Amino acid sequence: MISIVGGGRVGTSIAFLCVSNALDDVLLLDHTKDKVIGESLDIANAIPPTSKFSIHGTDDYSKLSGSDIVVIATSTGVYIKNRMENMSSQVIMIKEIARKIKQYCPSAIVLLISNPLDILTYFFQRESELSRFKVIGVASSLDSSRFRYCISEKLSIPQSSISNALVLGEHGDSLVPVFSGVSVNGKSLLSMIDGDEKDSMTSSVRNYWKKLRSYKSRSHFGIAKNAYDVINAIINSKELAIPASVVLEGEYGEKDVAMGVPIKITSKGIIEIKDRKLDESEQELFKISAQSIRNSIQSI
Ligand code: LAC
Repeated sequence: MISIVGGGRVGTSIAFLCVSNALDDVLLLDHTKDKVIGESLDIANAIPPTSKFSIHGTDDYSKLSGSDIVVIATSTGVYIKNRMENMSSQVIMIKEIARKIKQYCPSAIVLLISNPLDILTYFFQRESELSRFKVIGVASSLDSSRFRYCISEKLSIPQSSISNALVLGEHGDSLVPVFSGVSVNGKSLLSMIDGDEKDSMTSSVRNYWKKLRSYKSRSHFGIAKNAYDVINAIINSKELAIPASVVLEGEYGEKDVAMGVPIKITSKGIIEIKDRKLDESEQELFKISAQSIRNSIQSI
């Protein structure tokens, strides 16, 4: 069973993708019981006729029992200028959810979506005491899809021409687009752009969410599809190589932090934290990003 905590736009978009692709039974959980019952009744009409699965809504955490996957896409309030705005209340919330998951479904694989993503991934793993290889912060794959989109728009090329558009580090202002590994039709991206263009693309990726919010209230389709890809890989035992936020214990020379790194996921969760070659400037930015997240963690 796939349980989704949070019946807002992101949670319901993920539920819709899982149900309409007949991945597994879905439980949509939120403190506003009527809303998630209503959303479930709506999404239930997307169940394929050949599916053996269904969807239900609840406000009862004990119904999490038996969950194979839990997605946490809930929030105590809307952030406006920065994903860190509600950090304290979000950390309190995530610790409470961690205790409930530890109680009702301690063997589940947990996907964090809520912001500030890296900080909540860290505190969730510490509070729940789940293996760090079963706690996945979904965000850097979203940032990577934005990086790929920005390149395709800038160079007026299809995304299929772009390989290895990877973003690591914080899901936030210090994120690190790894330009050094990107190729366009087999040619190094760095040989096609100058320093100003590189800085402009970096800024576009870092501020993508703000531009999006200047047109609509918040994102949900992009993050939902990135979360769905992880859920699909776990449910269908497919190997998926993406960047995601993971608690580090020495990898990349970092510890006491969760941040976006390249990982490999299968039905068991994270099976590998992959080592990725970074150029000197990327290594420096990665360290700055790690310290920025760690400073926030230590400020709680
Ligand atoms: C964004 C949210 C998912 O980047 O943090 O749109």
